[in-house]
Amino acid sequence: MDILTLDKKKIPNHIAVIMDGNGRWAKKRDLDRVEGHKEGVEAVKRTVKACIEADVRFLTIYAFSIENWARPLAEVESLMELMVFALNSEIEELNRQGVSLKTIGDISMLPKNAKAVLQDCIDRTKNNNKLTLVVALSYGSRWEIVEACKKIASNVNKGEQKIDDICEKTLNDSMCIPDLPDPDLLIRTSGERRLSNFLLWQLAYTEFYFIDKFWPDFQKEDLYLAIYNYQNRERRFGKTSEQI
Ligand code: FPP
Repeated sequence: MDILTLDKKKIPNHIAVIMDGNGRWAKKRDLDRVEGHKEGVEAVKRTVKACIEADVRFLTIYAFSIENWARPLAEVESLMELMVFALNSEIEELNRQGVSLKTIGDISMLPKNAKAVLQDCIDRTKNNNKLTLVVALSYGSRWEIVEACKKIASNVNKGEQKIDDICEKTLNDSMCIPDLPDPDLLIRTSGERRLSNFLLWQLAYTEFYFIDKFWPDFQKEDLYLAIYNYQNRERRFGKTSEQI
């Protein structure tokens, strides 16, 4: 699949990705799981470039779920180190490419140095506007929704929010990144077909695309094929075909 095959007028504004299968990719090659994660970082770099070339404006990647904290300590530590290493080595390139980095998730749970490096990258890329790369880290959608409810309840308590005025926008505005548009397309690799507590609120009208390849094998062409597939769907948002 070539980028030229795509309809430039129907490029998804926001793509969300569940990058799955790093562990199985490594196991198949008799390697340590962390080698799969390292190759996974390469796939992230390819995907960021491919999104920029296709003019996708937002890319959200599921890098570490709240549930992932329960993995063996050695894997959790390796993932954190890998992230710090990747951010430090890629910051210049992110800036060169015009990428603005943001995160969603319970960042307070991250090790101190990871938090510092992440914040530094967010600060140093905040004025870029070609692509917003949202990294979901220590993220769980139910956690995000519970936090949003707490914020709203606290505003009600303080008299700053009337219960009758609570609407979808109130919830939206209470999410980790209030002005983040909903994803148009969700891609999950590795053949699994579930959401795994990812963006449950935001994916209400998103198109889903599943691919059997493991994440480290994900190529530019796979992204373009996913976009091509998306472009050939009819998004009705509850209306009839005739109304669209
Ligand atoms: C899922 O594969 C992958 C992860 C839990 C980690 C993904 C993280 C990266 C690719 C690194 C991201 C780095 C930056 C800088 C954003 P899995 O381990 O669940 O694979 P399995 O299902 O085959 O075991």
